[in-house]
Amino acid sequence: MKINAAEGKLGILVIGVGGAVSTTFIAGTLSVRKGHGTPIGSLTQLATIRLGKRNENRFPKIKDVVPLADLKDLVFGGWDIFEENLYEAARHAEVLSKDDLEVVKDELTVIRPMKAVFDQNYVKRLHGTHVKEGKTRWDLMEQVREDIRSFKKENNCDRVVVMWAASTEVFIPQSKEHNTLADFENALKENNTEVISPSMCYAYASMAEGCPFIMGAPNLCVDIPAMWEFAEKKQVPICGKDYKTGQTMLKTVLAPMLKTRMLGLDGWFSTNILGNRDGEVLDDPGSFKTKEVSKLSVIDTILQTDIYPELYGNIYHKVRINYYPPRKDNKEGWDNIDIVGWLGYPMQLKVDFLCRDSILAAPLCLDLVLFADLSSRCGFYGIQTWLSFYFKSPMHDADHVPEHDLFIQHTILKNTLRKIIGEETIDYLD
Ligand SMILES: NC(=O)c1ccc[n+]([C@@H]2O[C@H](COP(=O)([O-])OP(=O)(O)OC[C@H]3O[C@@H](n4cnc5c(N)ncnc54)[C@H](O)[C@@H]3O)[C@@H](O)[C@H]2O)c1
Repeated sequence: MKINAAEGKLGILVIGVGGAVSTTFIAGTLSVRKGHGTPIGSLTQLATIRLGKRNENRFPKIKDVVPLADLKDLVFGGWDIFEENLYEAARHAEVLSKDDLEVVKDELTVIRPMKAVFDQNYVKRLHGTHVKEGKTRWDLMEQVREDIRSFKKENNCDRVVVMWAASTEVFIPQSKEHNTLADFENALKENNTEVISPSMCYAYASMAEGCPFIMGAPNLCVDIPAMWEFAEKKQVPICGKDYKTGQTMLKTVLAPMLKTRMLGLDGWFSTNILGNRDGEVLDDPGSFKTKEVSKLSVIDTILQTDIYPELYGNIYHKVRINYYPPRKDNKEGWDNIDIVGWLGYPMQLKVDFLCRDSILAAPLCLDLVLFADLSSRCGFYGIQTWLSFYFKSPMHDADHVPEHDLFIQHTILKNTLRKIIGEETIDYLD
């Protein structure tokens, strides 16, 4: 496979750049490249990959055999509805300590968000003050294109990847304007704000500029046929949706465990307390609905409820997110799982995950921007299903079912990397 070399600077433009996830990702990456801290959770930086047969004993690090962009070549920027610089934003997010931020204070202070495309009807709990003005969604999209071009020029970037780490937008159903590129472009020009969300303006602009686009929230955005058509036309990679970091990651490990052992499931109740801005936004029923659909989708697909009615024919699955300010970014996720064993005897499994939302998300952001750039240099375009590993609702086209099982996703990811570098894929038989 011909892979264009990772030469020159790689611009990383993050939508919602002043948020908790973005600032933790950017500050952390800058620290790591200065030699402070370990990029724990990142496959691109830490994981190895087995090459060849088991008896060959070849386990190099991914970054030593896959031609990824070097951290020293990354340049960060992005958009936010608040204009504070990234140092101030990171201090407000209260994820990383003052001491950790001090190490990269100079680099963070010079990153200032560009004005955002924002519509409060899509994120009810936020009041943006650093927002673009334009007559139509099309005009706003054109302004984002201009931002990307200027950023690329000013920072002397060879390539740019765009990633959404902004707030979850309210749920919108797929409508007829989303079905073809022509109808979608008309809706942008006609300023049909009911069906064109701000995130769609960013995604369209990114693709128009030839930049890979990553959707880190559950927004409909690029998960519509019109956007798939545009990605094919512009030959850019797209992927999403919704980073799989905490409770859903556990779900996609535990549900396959039940299924491989043919254990039954009666009910799964998941609840969370979360006190950051994301928690506040998700307190709004419209935004929560988008998240709920994303979180609920995994179990039925993994358990193949239609194939195993005696085990999984009647599952009660409920997901709750409760905004609870004292916890800030330190989310607590509880799961009560009612399982069923031999002859129908009930058992219970309880999980209490005291996690840190942005600490879990930051390494995924780093891997995703590096892999999306790799995809682009390999000439891959359209939906990047090999990156399903990172998402709660992995995007897939109409002919395929999504793969949710974390370990199958992991195998797909590593086998794709093997293919990219011209090594044999591994079926674990030898
Ligand atoms: N583990 C995780 O943290 C995790 C997992 C999966 C998904 N997510 C999603 O990632 C996103 C970011 O999470 P967070 O905790 O950083 O939230 P956050 O509220 O701290 O950050 C979101 C940022 O987006 C900005 N924003 C909102 N609308 C915007 C727009 N239209 N354009 C530009 N900026 C905009 C906000 O001002 C804010 O700075 C959320 O959608 C969240 O649901 C997070």
